[in-house]
Amino acid sequence: MSELRPVTPLSILSKKLSELKDLGSKMGLEGELSKLIEECCALAQPLDQYLAEHSTKASPALIALEKHTNALDWEAAFQKGATSIRLEKEMLSGALEGQLLQMLVALTGTKRILEIGSFTSYASLAMAEALPEEGTLIACEYDPFAADFAQQQLANTPVGKKVKIQVGEALATLSALQKEGYSFDFVFLDADKENYLTYYQTILEAELLKVGGLLCVDNTLYMGQVYGAGEQTKNGAAIEAFNKAVKADPNVQKVILPIRDGLTLIRRIA
Ligand SMILES: C[S@@+](CC[C@H](N)C(=O)[O-])C[C@H]1O[C@@H](n2cnc3c(N)ncnc32)[C@H](O)[C@@H]1O
Repeated sequence: MSELRPVTPLSILSKKLSELKDLGSKMGLEGELSKLIEECCALAQPLDQYLAEHSTKASPALIALEKHTNALDWEAAFQKGATSIRLEKEMLSGALEGQLLQMLVALTGTKRILEIGSFTSYASLAMAEALPEEGTLIACEYDPFAADFAQQQLANTPVGKKVKIQVGEALATLSALQKEGYSFDFVFLDADKENYLTYYQTILEAELLKVGGLLCVDNTLYMGQVYGAGEQTKNGAAIEAFNKAVKADPNVQKVILPIRDGLTLIRRIA
């Protein structure tokens, strides 16, 4: 199984520090500069592993789901037309974020969850595990192959029945949910980055998130591109615009957590 590509500010920084260290060795670097590089590596590189090792472990069902997702060759699936869009195993949110989402669901006493962009349903399953018996989660997923894969994984779990996957464009699903009068305590946004602002506006304007409810938004640091690291892509620019709009919105309280690729917690206060 191939290694995961670095897709977070910390993992990208760690990789660059390794390159810097190698370059220093090749150049015969010694003394203060070499010691400084060693100290930077020691600060950054073990952090992800430390966080994982000192947080609650994922359930066996979540571990199995991650293993199956990583075992699939997503690029081959795309090339032969099985998936409708290019997907990759790095999209899966993972153990640390899964634990945080579970904790937030439990602390807020959430009963109704909406997830936008569910891929193989790692976060759906993590959050469903923290829901009470009567709790439900609606997951919006564009790609039928990913949705089918997720459905098979969920079927093997004790809480899978709480999750309902809606296949198709999330905006169409949101519009249908609004018409049916749905309202959620908790929303997790993790779909196409270019539409983040539209999703945000829709969720609030259509009253899909209750006042007092929590919206968690993934990838809000976008590999550091939002604060000027690396070359900015279309997605990076969209997330930067999204962050600016949320910052300016007086109707929400917000905090960006530097966990993984950035997770913004947004509480609707008006
Ligand atoms: C980063 S992944 C989601 C990861 C997932 N939340 C997890 O915890 O593992 C993004 C997902 O959004 C889906 N997606 C992209 N555009 C979408 C759209 N317009 N409507 C619904 N889903 C979409 C992709 O197919 C992909 O599966």
